[in-house]
Amino acid sequence: MRLLALSGSLRARSSNSAVLHSALDLVDGPATTADIGALPHFNPDLDGEDATPPAPVATLRAAVAAADALLVVSPEYAHGVPGVLKNALDWLVSSGECVHKPVAVITASPFPTGGDHANAQLRETLRMMTAEIVTAACREIPAIGPKIDPTTERVTDEATLADLRTAMHHLTTAATE
Ligand SMILES: Cc1cc2nc3c(=O)[nH]c(=O)nc-3n(C[C@H](O)[C@H](O)[C@H](O)COP(=O)(O)O)c2cc1C
Repeated sequence: MRLLALSGSLRARSSNSAVLHSALDLVDGPATTADIGALPHFNPDLDGEDATPPAPVATLRAAVAAADALLVVSPEYAHGVPGVLKNALDWLVSSGECVHKPVAVITASPFPTGGDHANAQLRETLRMMTAEIVTAACREIPAIGPKIDPTTERVTDEATLADLRTAMHHLTTAATE
């Protein structure tokens, strides 16, 4: 079971990246992260039959194609999906690597809402891309701040860790069925 994870935050001390790495710590087997910060802005002129996609795009597509499942962890910005993450997904729409790929969407926020708007929007975009949303593996994590150790940049809250373990179990099970 090869898992590929994407973080919607480029911030060095991102709470969502901490959630992402904590989730990956709980998974058996190879797990990698994709660098989506280096992707160019999506432009259909750079894609399609008569164009060679930019190198970072080809790298992302190969990583997604090689993965058995995707984990997307993201903050919410202005009740929406961070542009950097939507940009990455836009590069994957027509190339098809996400088709029937099991995907978990986790959003974490310092607020009680847990990034619910971004979570719903991400699921809708991925559903349109014909990814297999593993609903039992999706989470909206509220009040994330004190649940993370800033030194280790990992989740330390026991209940959140237990829930992440359950979520990853559902994702990996869906990927191996
Ligand atoms: C421009 C901006 C807009 C934000 N909008 C929201 C929002 O709509 N909902 C929310 O829950 N948090 C919002 N936040 C707060 C983020 O959830 C918070 O900064 C979080 O720590 C960012 O995730 P990260 O730690 O993974 O970088 C916003 C933050 C910024 C900088």
